[in-house]
Amino acid sequence: MKALMITRFGGPEVLEVQTVPDAHVGPDQVLIDVEAGGLNFADLMAAEGGYAGTPKPPLIAGREFAGKDPNGRRVMGYMQWGAFAEKTAAYRAFFWPVPAAWTAEQGAAFPVNFFTAYFAFWKAGLLEKPAGTRVLIHAVAGGVGTAAVQIGKILGIEMYGTSSSEEKLARVRELGLQHGINYKQKDYVKAIKELTKGEGVDAVFEMLGGEHVAKSVHCLRDFGRVIVYGAATGQSPTLDTRVLYVKGASVHGLWLTYLSQNRALMEAAWKQLSEWANAGRLQPVIGKVFPLAEARAAYTLMREGKNYGKIVLKIA
Ligand SMILES: NC(=O)c1ccc[n+]([C@@H]2O[C@H](COP(=O)([O-])OP(=O)(O)OC[C@H]3O[C@@H](n4cnc5c(N)ncnc54)[C@H](OP(=O)(O)O)[C@@H]3O)[C@@H](O)[C@H]2O)c1
Repeated sequence: MKALMITRFGGPEVLEVQTVPDAHVGPDQVLIDVEAGGLNFADLMAAEGGYAGTPKPPLIAGREFAGKDPNGRRVMGYMQWGAFAEKTAAYRAFFWPVPAAWTAEQGAAFPVNFFTAYFAFWKAGLLEKPAGTRVLIHAVAGGVGTAAVQIGKILGIEMYGTSSSEEKLARVRELGLQHGINYKQKDYVKAIKELTKGEGVDAVFEMLGGEHVAKSVHCLRDFGRVIVYGAATGQSPTLDTRVLYVKGASVHGLWLTYLSQNRALMEAAWKQLSEWANAGRLQPVIGKVFPLAEARAAYTLMREGKNYGKIVLKIA
């Protein structure tokens, strides 16, 4: 089968489409004919330096896919590596039916973004909150960001979101984002202060790292929560936890790799997400589709932060 190999640690230049033996199918796994793969920021990290828990190269890249199971059913799934290949061995607990109205590309854009965004609202305690609740979503125009906006809209939450680009913000407004903040033009702490008349937000979805955890705490109102789930700047978060005392604030970690091991949690999330998806209320947002042969360009686009929504690799 053809597969996208991470041949050694490094940037997009280490990626090569190679012919390799078909995936080995272990217990509790089935062989999926893959049609499309969803690119995640974690794929950059896996190629560049090893993402926690990922084996050393050479290995097959990719954490999510859509394709057909041995019965011909259209499925979309999540794994830690090995998705960007013509065939992949997927655990039964980690793939789900693709909603009838969606393409394979949309299916491949679903699992990581929507489970992560859903768990961010859950960790923030915002799944059942009265109107008037506010959330600040960083990288709002990205994969997880556009998923979070759709979920926030359903929940009736007032959303604020950051991006480097007016054009991206304009597109996310169409999804339901009420307040776009271009952080290249304005400091987002100041913007939140002004937009909320000094009150702040109930939660911040934080995936930048560095100074941004502390800055996000400054955006909170009383008892607010920062949900940390990434460090796209590549910098370790700096936070003096004493700033949390003032507003009774808290910081919560979220890692889908870990949460996904909790069967009850995943089933509850899927029950809700699939209900919304099948009702047409969730639509994975795809910015660009690349053929597998152009995977290096896809990784480069994400590394440069130029993507809107999800980048998808077309595999078959
Ligand atoms: N913990 C988890 O389980 C989990 C799961 C999924 C994703 N994540 C994390 O969530 C974040 C978003 O992931 P994603 O796959 O949905 O990616 P994405 O948001 O589609 O792409 C990354 C976006 O981040 C913004 N950005 C800001 N600083 C950046 C930088 N220094 N380099 C590159 N991009 C930068 C860019 O948007 P603007 O230019 O508009 O700011 C860029 O488009 C990542 O940090 C990822 O590691 C974590």
